[in-house]
Amino acid sequence: MSDFTFLKGSADWWRQAVVYQIYPRSFADLNGDGIGDLKGIIGKVDYLASLSIDAVWLSPFYPSELADGGYDVADYRDVDPRIGTLEEFDELVEKLHARGIRLFVDIVPNHSSDQHVWFQEALRSPKGSRERARYIFRDGRGENGELPPSELASHFGPEGWTRVPDGQWYMHLFTKEQPDFDWSNREVHEEFLQTLKFWSDRGVDGFRIDVAHALVKDLEPLPIRSSYSLEVMKADGTDPLFDRDEVHEIYREWRQLFNRYDPPRVAVAEAWVHPHRRPAYASIEGLGQAFNFDLLTSQWDADAFRGVIDDNLAFAHKTGSSSTWVMSNHDVIRHATRLVIPAGKEGVTFDAENHWYVNHRLDGDLDLAKGLDRAKAATLLMLALPGSSYLYQGEELGLPDVTDIPSDRMQDPQWFRSEGKFKSRDGCRVPLPWESSGPSFGFGPGGSHLPQPSWYANYAVSVQDGKAGSTLELYRAALAIRRKLIQGEKLSWLPSTQGTLWFEREGGWSSFTNFTDVAVALPAGEVMLASSDVSGGKVPANSTVWLKLS
Ligand code: NOJ
Ligand code: CA
Repeated sequence: MSDFTFLKGSADWWRQAVVYQIYPRSFADLNGDGIGDLKGIIGKVDYLASLSIDAVWLSPFYPSELADGGYDVADYRDVDPRIGTLEEFDELVEKLHARGIRLFVDIVPNHSSDQHVWFQEALRSPKGSRERARYIFRDGRGENGELPPSELASHFGPEGWTRVPDGQWYMHLFTKEQPDFDWSNREVHEEFLQTLKFWSDRGVDGFRIDVAHALVKDLEPLPIRSSYSLEVMKADGTDPLFDRDEVHEIYREWRQLFNRYDPPRVAVAEAWVHPHRRPAYASIEGLGQAFNFDLLTSQWDADAFRGVIDDNLAFAHKTGSSSTWVMSNHDVIRHATRLVIPAGKEGVTFDAENHWYVNHRLDGDLDLAKGLDRAKAATLLMLALPGSSYLYQGEELGLPDVTDIPSDRMQDPQWFRSEGKFKSRDGCRVPLPWESSGPSFGFGPGGSHLPQPSWYANYAVSVQDGKAGSTLELYRAALAIRRKLIQGEKLSWLPSTQGTLWFEREGGWSSFTNFTDVAVALPAGEVMLASSDVSGGKVPANSTVWLKLS
């Protein structure tokens, strides 16, 4: 076990931290089997340190049949043998801590894998047994129970109930390989407390909580649902499936456990709820922080960004937490592509993203140069905001999404289960290019579990490393400067023209973004960093500049 005493100190370290998300199966593959592994990550700790990030968040690395990219966990307290061992996990914690980088792991409490020992026991046990009571088993409707217990769709398309050989059905909000736990059962609570303790004792500093707004359900009568859009979710804590007020009792109990550690363990909720309900998840008596995904659904537009920033700073203020910011993660189209997807009449919401992906992904007509400009500008703006930023592996390379993966190589159940009605998330999960040549562009000595396009060579770390003007060097510079600049959490807006945003941070510095397609005058101040060339005294289209105020 690692000694992490040197990382003690401020219990508030997370408030303005930069957290870098690793999708372990696609980061670096040491043994060449085409699947990223812990040894691969250990080999890249110097690279991670070169980014001046504060923490790494590992998406699930647990044993899994990969029905949903690892979010179907078969054992919450082990490492998938294809990814590594617990000893290697300890080594990773130690190496990261030695470089001053903390570690978050992903906890998936709404559902397990159907390969989990509990679910396997439930299948072998009779109706009404203690083993079945850990999940949601019910009799079907119809003369012989042949109809599902209720009309319930799952997130990824068809039915949310699956029948087992003795005729009962179990509920799953995601794939049929992801049975939902029954959180009215105290045993489930105890089990997760053990898991959180297990990883905290191993030196894990924080947890990202998957679908944190689900867990507690009102099952009488059994819920009926055909769509998972936010519009149909009740906004007052009484929805039968999501965001019920009682879910916070679970997190209050988790908080007591977190606070037994020094510094206290931290957590961030993935909670897709009505915005005014988000602060409860970020309560300091609960998880402490919640993802704000509003920038993922915002159009590239100054007013839209300003609205999101104001709303979220106000939410954070309400709970005493700090805000979070996200431009990319493993579930969305990478922002270097997303920010030039036509808004359509719906605006750039997930609907527009899906619509474009399903109907136009192969058209090849997106202006990706503009996409990269906007992505860099958006990232610099984000990193200048008070609160913590979550980065996703590969965005520091300016990677666009891979939108033309052939259907027979895709892995995402969202694509298969919806029969191509929802986008595949594989395009942002393609293994990273570390070199411009080799069997998998340096991902490893073998192949890559998702196909990499030939143009990945141009984005390789080796091509960008040390190269002035590269996206990688821009991220490195921004993160290093940010670390020195960040003081208090205040933001003050400065007057600026239509289509631009300018704000000041404590310590006499400011960030200015030009969202328009034409250059505008450079505001007064000394330029510290810019996402494009400002030497002509102008801020080019789709750019951000950080300025020291005189
Ligand atoms: C959210 C995760 O980010 C996503 O990848 C996963 O499919 C669902 N939760 C289900 O666990
Ligand atoms: Ca491997």
